[in-house]
Amino acid sequence: MRILGVKNGLWISMILGFMVLGTVYGIGANWGTQATHPLPPKIVVKLLKDNGIQKVKLFDADSEILNALSGSGIEVMVGIPNEMLWSLANSLGAAEKWVEKNVSSHVSSNSVDIKYVAVGNEPFLSQLNGTFLSTTFPALQNIQAALIKAGLGNRVKVTIPINADVYQSSSEKPSTGDFRQDIRDLIVSIVKFLSDNGGAFTVNIYPFISLYNDPNFPADYAFFDGYSSPIDDNGKIYNNVFDANHDTLLSALQKNGFPNMSIIIGEIGWPTDGDNNANLKAAQRFNQGFMTHISGGKGTPMRPGPIDAYLFSLIDEDAKSIQPGNFERHWGIYYFDGTPKYNLSLGANNGGGLVPASGVRYLSRQWCVLSPSASLDDPQLADSVGYACSHADCTSLGHGTSCADLDARGNVSYAFNSYYQENDQQSSACKFPNLSMITNIDPSPPGGTCKFKIMIQASSPSSHKSNAFSTKPVNVNVMFLVIVSLLLSVL
Ligand SMILES: *[C@@H]1O[C@H](CO)[C@@H](O)[C@H](O)[C@H]1NC(C)=O
Ligand SMILES: *[C@@H]1O[C@H](CO)[C@@H](O)[C@H](O)[C@H]1NC(C)=O
Ligand SMILES: *[C@@H]1O[C@H](CO)[C@@H](O)[C@H](O)[C@H]1NC(C)=O
Ligand SMILES: *[C@@H]1O[C@H](CO)[C@@H](O)[C@H](O)[C@H]1NC(C)=O
Ligand SMILES: *[C@@H]1O[C@H](CO)[C@@H](O)[C@H](O)[C@H]1NC(C)=O
Ligand SMILES: *[C@@H]1O[C@H](CO)[C@@H](O)[C@H](O)[C@H]1NC(C)=O
Repeated sequence: MRILGVKNGLWISMILGFMVLGTVYGIGANWGTQATHPLPPKIVVKLLKDNGIQKVKLFDADSEILNALSGSGIEVMVGIPNEMLWSLANSLGAAEKWVEKNVSSHVSSNSVDIKYVAVGNEPFLSQLNGTFLSTTFPALQNIQAALIKAGLGNRVKVTIPINADVYQSSSEKPSTGDFRQDIRDLIVSIVKFLSDNGGAFTVNIYPFISLYNDPNFPADYAFFDGYSSPIDDNGKIYNNVFDANHDTLLSALQKNGFPNMSIIIGEIGWPTDGDNNANLKAAQRFNQGFMTHISGGKGTPMRPGPIDAYLFSLIDEDAKSIQPGNFERHWGIYYFDGTPKYNLSLGANNGGGLVPASGVRYLSRQWCVLSPSASLDDPQLADSVGYACSHADCTSLGHGTSCADLDARGNVSYAFNSYYQENDQQSSACKFPNLSMITNIDPSPPGGTCKFKIMIQASSPSSHKSNAFSTKPVNVNVMFLVIVSLLLSVL
């Protein structure tokens, strides 16, 4: 049971994969925008091209991003946020308008190569309490009908990115996989519909989460370089949980009559900060291991051939909800500013490693820190740090993180600087009473992993900022209290 990862006492599968004989898929990337200062779309499109990334998956249909992708030759999966499913399920007209505005207009006038519409994002996640159970399938049907009506039925396919806990296995063997009893009828109806319309089954697979949720999960099984107790499933040998997870899904599809269903790995990746297991070394090991694993087109034990996958994620997003954990803002293979985090070869096109973003504009070389004259006993300190962390990003502080080695004063400075940078270095954002000061000496400890950031100039700060915070409400209060209590534990 443990091997695949346990959620609510059930096996959950964690990984990815799919192939069509004779087709080699280039790697794709998820491009999310829940950031206080997203890189300008034109810079990101150049970054994708410079690195030979041939496909992107978006979480909505931002017209600025789609315009930037115009003529790029990059394949696009546009997304429909869960919040829109209700209206699209209840109105064919709304679906037609959505397709007209967010697909047809870009395909025809701007030559954006839209290949898929992703209807919803993990709408059946158990944490969503069934909120989207009744609207997802009707929304999918309406979008498909609208695509056909728009004359795009052959060109643009539909899919639903689904979390891997909709299937499970009764033992560690993938061949025992099936869809979860409580959701099987719905999933099978959806699979039939996708199959009839040439769509694909998109699944997000996260070995990191298995390790995060279960300290007894065998770490080596999460990666791709060998596992001491491989699983022998009637002669098929599994030594990484990705293959096992993928083939658990295949077994489920097979059992329900869809042995040839296309599978897309919608998200796969490893975070670099905010948790013990989230660091540069582990992320490099996982992502490079995955790239090497799929590069030969050997596929999984049950389905040899190319695997169609999108890395999660391209760039860190500092406004994501940290309800899942502090690692949530650190999934990028790039930092927020388009700096590569580690060496990663994505295949033929970028041989040596990741190419950095070019043309990025930074704010001034200055930071907000705890003033040397301030005392750690100052009665305002706790509130000030709490305020800074709840409004900005302190997920790189704490046990097992990139800034774990900071002393108490360093912790406070980090919090102040994060707030100052996210507020575009406005002087009013470095006015913690009697505590803070602006400096032009880099407070980052030399040679280490902890970086006190300098913010970039946002593409269109006002629209993106409000968007970033409104699409996925951040449960600030809970995390804020946790962070503050941790941060102050030693003060
Ligand atoms: C197009 O997509 C955007 C971004 O997801 C959304 O805000 C907008 O409502 C959509 N347009 C229509 C007509 O549905
Ligand atoms: C789901 O239910 C739990 C427990 O009742 C609640 O804490 C949580 O906020 C709910 N989540 C959503 C997205 O409704
Ligand atoms: C799956 O594909 C194989 C090989 O192309 C074919 O023989 C078989 O009939 C297909 N099965 C179904 C259920 O479509
Ligand atoms: C990346 O690889 C190059 C050459 O193999 C090496 O010189 C460089 O130090 C590596 N960079 C990192 C961040 O590991
Ligand atoms: C710095 O803050 C983190 C949590 O945010 C805490 O775990 C750590 O103990 C603090 N270090 C010091 C020296 O105060
Ligand atoms: C700042 O410190 C001075 C004494 O050093 C004190 O009189 C003043 O009240 C403090 N201001 C605030 C806002 O705490």
